[in-house]
Amino acid sequence: MQRTRIRRETLLGFQPPAIGEEEVEAVVQTLRTGWIATGPRAAELEERFSEYVGARHAVSLASGTAALHLALLGAGIGEGDEVITTPITWPATGNVIVHTGARPVFVDVRAADLNIDPKAVAAGITPRTKAIMPVHLAGQPCDLDALLELGIPVIEDATHAAESVYRGKKIGSVPGSLGACFSLNATKNVAAAEGGLLATDDDDLAAEVRELRLMRRREGSHYDIRVAGFKANLPDLLAALALVQLEKIDGHAETRRRHVEAYDAALSDLPGLTPLSRDPRDVHAFHIYVIRIDPKLAGADRDAYREALLAENIATSIHFLPLHRLTYYRERFPDQPRLPVAERAGDEVLSLPLSPAHSDADIEDATDALRRVHADFTG
Ligand SMILES: Cc1ncc(COP(=O)(O)O)c(C=O)c1O
Repeated sequence: MQRTRIRRETLLGFQPPAIGEEEVEAVVQTLRTGWIATGPRAAELEERFSEYVGARHAVSLASGTAALHLALLGAGIGEGDEVITTPITWPATGNVIVHTGARPVFVDVRAADLNIDPKAVAAGITPRTKAIMPVHLAGQPCDLDALLELGIPVIEDATHAAESVYRGKKIGSVPGSLGACFSLNATKNVAAAEGGLLATDDDDLAAEVRELRLMRRREGSHYDIRVAGFKANLPDLLAALALVQLEKIDGHAETRRRHVEAYDAALSDLPGLTPLSRDPRDVHAFHIYVIRIDPKLAGADRDAYREALLAENIATSIHFLPLHRLTYYRERFPDQPRLPVAERAGDEVLSLPLSPAHSDADIEDATDALRRVHADFTG
């Protein structure tokens, strides 16, 4: 029997981090060591993360954005080059391409999972194409085999994909990919406020990115620089937090999986609200739970649902508005082609609260609210 409870009294946060006493203790201990900048904990995180994903190297960085940026620079991408990417992503993915001096070439996505469409990528290749940067949206791996077959270096935006497995291989260790960039941002599956990691088997790329992340120091009493490096290192304070979160990764994933099942069950009764598709051959990281809202069946559009859910004290988010339609990209690259699948999705996607910090009762509040809102709009 369906329970219809009353509106929540407090706002259900969209993606609060799950921070316990262990994280507090790890940060306090690091403070007490007197070494808070990049040091032994960042090194330990690199070791643990490379073991976790099965990559030869993990390079710790200040953010997922820094990982993407320095991976492109380390791969030699620059002025006059083109990098093909997806418009259904956070602006960081496109911005880092711009920051290298290359041109981001946005191509359309697949309707079912909103991951980059390999056929559109193939059609977008020109003699200037130097890399492909796909996103594993929400934690569903994109079709890497089809992208790798194109013979152009692939640098993965794996910021949603900490636990994702593509056809039996953990994201971060898929053979043929040049590297995968992860995020430790507060909302991510391994949450350390900020931070990033590049996982790669490529010794040269790892060495380049290590050099780019700090002004290089040489041995001896003097220092020298070979490249104009960045300040993109991960401090030990945050690495200590990330290490605890990494230890908890399986338990947190299990909680999110349970929440996803609850959403799936609730949505099966709500016409017009459909989750993005998942490929049963892969492990989905369940970083976010994205639904599409078809206004004809759901009785109202995404923005109306978003507002009505907020009135029910349920926070939601949008992943993502098509990047090529945002002001900077429209103005800087006015000759963008229309990308109909991405543009329609941009009007229809809504992300529901999903975090290991949420209790089952929290998710029940969200599904109850969804039912009430759906009944109001379709009734
Ligand atoms: C798809 C995608 N790419 C890149 C990033 C950037 O990661 P960070 O916030 O760690 O810089 C994010 C962060 O939200 C993201 O969602």
